[in-house]
Amino acid sequence: MPGCPVASSFDPFAAGYLADPYPHLAAVRDRTPAFYVPELDMWVVTRYADIEAIFSDVETFSARIAQDPVFPLAEQARAALVEGGFRAGATMSNCDPPKHTRIRRHNMRAFSARRISVLEPKVAAKAEELVGRMLAAERFDAVAGLTYPLPAYMIFTLIGFPPRDTEMLKSWCGNRMAFSWGRPSPAEQAEIAVGMARYWRYCEQFVSDRLADPQDDFTSDHLAVHRADPEALTLDEITGVIYGLSFAGHETTTNLTSNAIRRLLEHRDQWEALCADPSLISGAVEEVLRYDTSVVAWRRVTTRPTRIGEVEVGAEAKLMLLLAGSGRDPARFAAPDTFDVRRVDAARHLAFGRGIHFCLGAPLARMEVRIVLELLTRLAPDLELVPDQVFTFPPNISFRGPQQLWLQHGPRR
Ligand code: HEM
Repeated sequence: MPGCPVASSFDPFAAGYLADPYPHLAAVRDRTPAFYVPELDMWVVTRYADIEAIFSDVETFSARIAQDPVFPLAEQARAALVEGGFRAGATMSNCDPPKHTRIRRHNMRAFSARRISVLEPKVAAKAEELVGRMLAAERFDAVAGLTYPLPAYMIFTLIGFPPRDTEMLKSWCGNRMAFSWGRPSPAEQAEIAVGMARYWRYCEQFVSDRLADPQDDFTSDHLAVHRADPEALTLDEITGVIYGLSFAGHETTTNLTSNAIRRLLEHRDQWEALCADPSLISGAVEEVLRYDTSVVAWRRVTTRPTRIGEVEVGAEAKLMLLLAGSGRDPARFAAPDTFDVRRVDAARHLAFGRGIHFCLGAPLARMEVRIVLELLTRLAPDLELVPDQVFTFPPNISFRGPQQLWLQHGPRR
């Protein structure tokens, strides 16, 4: 019999939850698979089957709140966005059909196999450079040296952003994570809003520069569609896509790569299995996505009254789908708390969503983590976690990975 469907005690910003959400997720899943949290004004959904059903029913569950700030914006922040010219509308992850269908169709073309195959050797060369530099030291932070710079390089190269702007863009993106998924104070909100408006205007300027001077990149592919038919993709929509991808394409993958390295080194036998047999690496990436994903929660809102598991919810009910919980659901995965790179059904995880919003960057994210693991297992099989380090995580509801990941290798430790 499920417990009370209201749970004021669930706090995704609590230190213990941020450090290790999994025991909390297991406890709530057993007690109340779907429950309302008044402080967040959200229904939290924990079971694999319920989340899969929600992703599959786009009529009842709208994606339009996916990028909204979790907490209402203070007046000062709203004003800063308006004054700064921030005009980001819904384009993909926060957009519903039919508009979503049209924009996504063009994006799928721009994420073509050709573009990805052109990108792969560049990512591999960059990864090799970063890993080589990092391994020259015996002790290093793999986030600073590898997992932070590599995904930014990949997505900004795909989009066509000039490398000189990387640090500025990364800083805007970090703020955007706090803005939409964190709990910033009103003063912090207002400060971040100024940066977000600059970030938006940067994307507008970039799109207009590319319109005047097309190059061989993802943005120019979109602009070619626009030139042929301005209604098929408007300039605002293209700017929205670039604004969205420049965020989605790296925070997620930075965290997944860090989680992968951490979990494999914590399970030494699994790390050694990969060193001995690199053909296990692709399966290991899926197991990390199931066991310790980097997007732990995603949002939907109901368009009409409906039922989630045992509970009834009304229209306009906001939902927080615990993807991290779904990967550890014993009703879907046998021995879910065991990390096993040979698990045959790991790829059934919901870490990239399901259905019409299935993550467009999944092949890129998989490619990048695979490249990193291939390099590290080949060049540094003696790699270890620096013992007794305490991992810290950014305080937000969705994006999870350690802020630092200290590793060591070599003869003198
Ligand atoms: C480990 C890395 C990643 C994870 C865990 C992840 C996860 C997700 C999730 C959960 C969704 C939402 C699915 C839904 O609403 O049903 C999503 C959507 C999306 N992701 Fe990713 N993502 C990752 C990497 C990337 C990368 C590298 C890119 C871009 C290069 C990207 C681009 C997108 C886009 C554009 C969408 C929206 C698609 C749509 O609404 O049609 N993601 N991703």
